Amino acid sequence: MNALEGVKILDFTHVQSGPTCTQLLAWFGADVIKVERPGVGDATRQQLQDIPDVDSLYFTMLNHNKRSITLDTKNPKGIEVMWRLVKECDVLVENFAPGALARMGLTWEAIHQANPRMILASVKGFGPGAYENCKVYENVAQCVGGAASTTGFRTDIPMVSGAQIGDSGTGLHLALGIVTALYQRTHSGLGQKVDCAMQDGVLNLCRVKLRDQQRLERGPLEEYSQYGEGIGFGDSVPRAGNDSGGGQPGRILKCKGWETDPNAYIYFIAQGAVWEPICNVIGEPTWKTHPDYATPKARLPHLNEIFTRVEAWTMSKTKFEAMETLNALHVPCGPILSMKEIAEDKSLRKSGTVVEVDHPERGKYLTVGNPIRLSASQVEVKRSPLLGEHTDEILRDVLGYSENDRLKISESGAIGAVQRIAAE
Ligand code: COA
Repeated sequence: MNALEGVKILDFTHVQSGPTCTQLLAWFGADVIKVERPGVGDATRQQLQDIPDVDSLYFTMLNHNKRSITLDTKNPKGIEVMWRLVKECDVLVENFAPGALARMGLTWEAIHQANPRMILASVKGFGPGAYENCKVYENVAQCVGGAASTTGFRTDIPMVSGAQIGDSGTGLHLALGIVTALYQRTHSGLGQKVDCAMQDGVLNLCRVKLRDQQRLERGPLEEYSQYGEGIGFGDSVPRAGNDSGGGQPGRILKCKGWETDPNAYIYFIAQGAVWEPICNVIGEPTWKTHPDYATPKARLPHLNEIFTRVEAWTMSKTKFEAMETLNALHVPCGPILSMKEIAEDKSLRKSGTVVEVDHPERGKYLTVGNPIRLSASQVEVKRSPLLGEHTDEILRDVLGYSENDRLKISESGAIGAVQRIAAE
């Protein structure tokens, strides 16, 4: 038995944040029923398509292990079916624009009345306040959550990250909220609302920068490169390039081949505990006792000089050679891996971190497996559903509609133009 077996998720999500959340729940064993607009589906099915008329990788990589039902919830019959699903399921997950759910009549009050055990989980761009009605995508969330102002180089414009901390990050937060509410329901017998704002999710992941904001009021941030460069601080946390965020200074350093390979670099952390082996390996044994370098505090104003010296050593090695040598000395470090290297990494395939999935229309493709491993709940990554692939099956098996009723639903236009109704 898988962890969430028996839990029915009514997945009214689209794009990335909501689907990330429901995909995780599906991997933990929940029955995830994705409700999509007939003929169209989740907008991402058509976005960034690499093969004409085939569900995009954007969609397939965010919607594994789910079932798809097409339902026009603005059609009278469609919303009737939706309410049947609300009564049947444990959790309704949605991430439409503020107000969209209520415009369909799906208010929290009505949902709670129809099914007091139901958990209503929502992602919105902002929490209550001046911006609560705004639509938000990933990069907007990174900007309003404090990530962009603290990412990139001090002398350059604010920078958004490739990691989808606004979308996938908030989806992760929401999934935790849902399983927590499911647990509380085992005591209370009641559902509740779970709300995650993308701004809050990003800020939660930028917690250390709010820490630095408050430290700044008491003096310069000594681990930031600009401190060693003698450049003063303003009144807010500056962008710190690739400086390590914690008390252990780190930088991205060039390795052999950097002139032609954009990823021939290694992240190197000059951890205090391994300072002596670092001095030995870079050929500066006197730095072990020299007053300017011997202690972490003494090293802070000299970090540029130190990392320039370390880089002279890393440039004589490939990033993997440097990793091997440094690892043996317990120096925390990591090569900058390209997506190509990650896709081809044998150990990531073996561990199930990168998984090959077969799809009836696109063939084989790579995806990222469940990054959360439970020892007693196994995950098999299954392909995403085709649009409306399970419509008839869900109407029949989940909602118990007769063949005649299903025909009537189909004739109403609520489930799309041509829908196959299985004979009884
Ligand atoms: N049947 C009928 N109508 C449907 C439907 C269905 N099955 N599924 C969706 N719709 C309708 C909704 O009712 C809504 O209509 P309305 O505006 O008339 O009320 C519309 O489709 C969807 O609206 P919306 O969410 O505004 O889509 P959008 O493409 O304009 O905006 C976002 C996309 C992501 C910006 C917006 O949904 C949003 O801000 N979401 C919250 C934050 C979020 O999750 N952002 C990250 C996405 S990765």
